[in-house]
Amino acid sequence: MPNTLDVKQFTQFTSDLISFGLLYAIANYRIHTPEPLDRDANWKYWTQPRSGFWEWCARVYPLEAQRESYFDDMLNRDHASGIEAHYDISNDFYALFLDEQYRFYSCAEFQCEKDTLEEAQHHKAKYLLALLNLKGSESILDLGCGWGSMLKFLQDSGHQGKLSGYTLSKEQLIYAHQRLGLNISLKNFIMDALEDSPYDRILSVGALEHVRPGELRRVYQKIYDALVPGGKAVHQFFSLNYHPLQTSMVMIQLFFPGSLLSMHETHLQIAEDIGFRIIHDSIHDYQPTIRAWYERLANHQEKAIELVGLEIYNRYMTFFPIAWLFFEQDEAALHRIVMEKLAT
Ligand SMILES: C[S@@+](CC[C@H](N)C(=O)[O-])C[C@H]1O[C@@H](n2cnc3c(N)ncnc32)[C@H](O)[C@@H]1O
Repeated sequence: MPNTLDVKQFTQFTSDLISFGLLYAIANYRIHTPEPLDRDANWKYWTQPRSGFWEWCARVYPLEAQRESYFDDMLNRDHASGIEAHYDISNDFYALFLDEQYRFYSCAEFQCEKDTLEEAQHHKAKYLLALLNLKGSESILDLGCGWGSMLKFLQDSGHQGKLSGYTLSKEQLIYAHQRLGLNISLKNFIMDALEDSPYDRILSVGALEHVRPGELRRVYQKIYDALVPGGKAVHQFFSLNYHPLQTSMVMIQLFFPGSLLSMHETHLQIAEDIGFRIIHDSIHDYQPTIRAWYERLANHQEKAIELVGLEIYNRYMTFFPIAWLFFEQDEAALHRIVMEKLAT
């Protein structure tokens, strides 16, 4: 809880508390702290165990009906503005905490405690490569390709087939074009057609989180239609273990405005209804990656504030422990899935 509040902070805190509940109000208060958040104290603040009563207060309000109407309102927001708010901050800022080689902004694979973030992202990329099950000339479309990380990894692995990607972030597009020369387009994979189909493989890493529950069917159908018979979709994403109304998705709006996760069983049900056969579904631990990003960002506090200002620095310092807690409390799990379109 905040220690001291001036009038402006008090008004904001009260308004957030009434509209969005205790967790949101505290997180937003801390984001606007006039000092950089302290690395250790801030991590401990969010991740220390709380009393049952505190947890109850944090979760009981807003009531389900309020959450529902809040989600209805915010889901009218257009996709691009939500993506801009999170991703179009500064490529140099993201470079301060993402792995140096590929700039993956998605869960890595730490095989032991000694692994660096670079090694862990390499393990993850190799894992996804194995799931893609390539012979060497397949055409691959990466939905939500970020800074081109997986496409670059595929190139470096000697893949000869056509590689393309979509992102909604203009900053990522600039980086992927100018620095990597990749074939990436500024396209909304939820609303726009998947051009130049059919593809042998369609990949998404950390992007289906941005597809709202009411849009899932359309997206899976589009992916299905854009694959060759026998083609595969390989996805890495986190999904909810509980109904969205029973989770902390209201607070998550502070970091991903306009995004609402779906339950995992909803993903599987829709994909199977459309005709996909699920041939792989494994669960992986996101927490070590989140912790590594947090530590790297804190190590670069001065440079980060110089690049994006204090509020955005504090926003990410708040986001990472909250995301860690999200997995600690089992609200969501990170999956890697392979879906196959049956050969006709
Ligand atoms: C968490 S990042 C992951 C990026 C990359 N795949 C990686 O592993 O580093 C999510 C990506 O999804 C993209 N994205 C989200 N919604 C999208 C949409 N509707 N259309 C296109 N790209 C989208 C974002 O622009 C961003 O590149």
